[in-house]
Amino acid sequence: MGYVGPRTDDKALEVIMEGLGRLEYRGYDSAGVAVVAGALVETRKRSGKLSNLRSALQEAPLPQTATAIGHTRWATHGGPTDANAHPHRGGADGKLAIVHNGIIENFHGLRQSLLARGVRFTSETDTEVVAHLLSEAFTATGDLTQAIREVVASLDGAFTVLALHADQPHVLVGARRNSPLVVGLGEGENFLGSDVAAFIGYTRQALELGQDQIVTITPETYEIINFDGTPSQGKAYEVTWDAAEAEKGGYATFMEKEIHDQPHAVADTLRGRTDVDGNLALDELHISEDELKVVTKVVIVACGTAAYAGMVAKYAIERWARIPVEVELAHEFRYRDPVIDAHTLVVSISQSGETMDTLMAVRHAKELGSRTISICNTHGSTIPRESDAVLYTHAGPEIAVASTKAFLAQITASYILGLYLARLRGEQTDTAAVMGELKEIPAKIEKLLGTMDRVREIAYFMADSRAVLFLGRHVGFPVAMEGALKLKELAYIHAEGFAAGELKHGPIALIEPGQPVFIIVPSPDSEHGLHGKVVSNIQEIRARGARTLVIAEEGDTDVEPFADEVIRVPRTLPLLAPLLTVVPLQVFALHLSTAKGLDVDQPRNLAKSVTVE
Ligand code: M6R
Repeated sequence: MGYVGPRTDDKALEVIMEGLGRLEYRGYDSAGVAVVAGALVETRKRSGKLSNLRSALQEAPLPQTATAIGHTRWATHGGPTDANAHPHRGGADGKLAIVHNGIIENFHGLRQSLLARGVRFTSETDTEVVAHLLSEAFTATGDLTQAIREVVASLDGAFTVLALHADQPHVLVGARRNSPLVVGLGEGENFLGSDVAAFIGYTRQALELGQDQIVTITPETYEIINFDGTPSQGKAYEVTWDAAEAEKGGYATFMEKEIHDQPHAVADTLRGRTDVDGNLALDELHISEDELKVVTKVVIVACGTAAYAGMVAKYAIERWARIPVEVELAHEFRYRDPVIDAHTLVVSISQSGETMDTLMAVRHAKELGSRTISICNTHGSTIPRESDAVLYTHAGPEIAVASTKAFLAQITASYILGLYLARLRGEQTDTAAVMGELKEIPAKIEKLLGTMDRVREIAYFMADSRAVLFLGRHVGFPVAMEGALKLKELAYIHAEGFAAGELKHGPIALIEPGQPVFIIVPSPDSEHGLHGKVVSNIQEIRARGARTLVIAEEGDTDVEPFADEVIRVPRTLPLLAPLLTVVPLQVFALHLSTAKGLDVDQPRNLAKSVTVE
């Protein structure tokens, strides 16, 4: 993040540290700040969490000034050391510093050229190359904006770069390509950040930058140009949430708070989706209904938890709209020469809207002529901006690295899309009944959350588990995989989610006495006797010694003889069950991580937005 404040003021460092606190979820293996201090730029950087940087600043305070940049890092090039932490200085005169997100793909060649010119490097990062190039360009031009424009022309890859120079002490410059950057507009002060969380404590007035653009801010002004130098204008918008929503609100962790936000996330995502005639309404739909009517295939692209939301969506969209749906991990889709065309609707799902793998898949789909819809939680982020249409989820800011409320909101939005497509295609789906039941879901989640004491006890009891299995069938299958992912990322326990029907084709060999297995049981109302088939699976693994932890609907007594534990969820339509059955699995992972004394919100090796491929 970057800040430039009133010339008479000296709160830059305070603003940056507060902003970094809100951005730390994006990367937390090292952090640093740089300030303009008289004729020079000074920096402090530390590996580890932001608290290490705070201690470093207490031990060796920086001069207070009006202009500063800061960074929290998720290492790509060079390990998470003090030396590799950002900001990085450029040139030998100590006047310039930059911070950078993304990867400079041609950094090696650029570094060799700089070394040949006698430049000395102090880190292993790709970023330092940019800092030195920028310093050389500033020496030639005397202007930071002009210098950055020259430098970006020589860079390949994805980047957001922010730079300051002591010779222009009240100027900050930012440039972006394939990596997020937003401007915060204050009164006599302006901000730059990877996302609006950076400055939400100060202003809700934001400005979106387009692809390949440079922004120059001073305390009173901002100016945007394209990389080719032509002037441009950002798109102004008001952030719809405030700083309080990005706080823990009395909970011990963001994840716990976000699990409890879920009733609101679902209700807010549903709100306003039907017009006076009862028709479903989508946001920012730039695809005509005629175009959507002739769609012959839907392809959903996403990563991680969002991809599991996509798998749930497949069951619902195929059932209601009778269109074939494929779900694919975005990074696999992009590089396997997919067979799609103008009659394919590619639906991306992303909380952040900045996941590079998903963005690349969307771009590829557009190149092949497909229409693209984004289901996204972050207003103005890159993926919705580059898609033909957007269906925003309204989960509010999700700070914990483990996705929870965004998942429920993504599933909710997918249902809305499925119902919308069904109506367009004239399918006889009882939209009113589904929407009616969806509106009941927030209260049911609320009720379910009030019954989680036993899940917490089970988690503490199982803190020493070495492996946990999850079984599900139909829409319970993606829920099983999501339950396993939550446990892997939060508690560092080996966990696998399987389709229950697949058990006898291999995974049952893993069952040995005492092996804990969660089973997500379909509703007794499910078609095709699915409920009975899963109850049989429970008996099969119990007979081989498994410890069975059964998630079943209220009133489902069939499971009781074979369950070591029964976790009850309220009744709902079988296709909507994931909105409830996943909740105990989230709560379980949260408490098991806590029981092991781990960092729930910032698990090791991860970052919230994965903005590199
Ligand atoms: O921002 P996105 O929804 O595109 O992120 C996708 C995944 O990186 C994300 O869901 C990840 O799997 C979470 N850490 C899971 O909890």
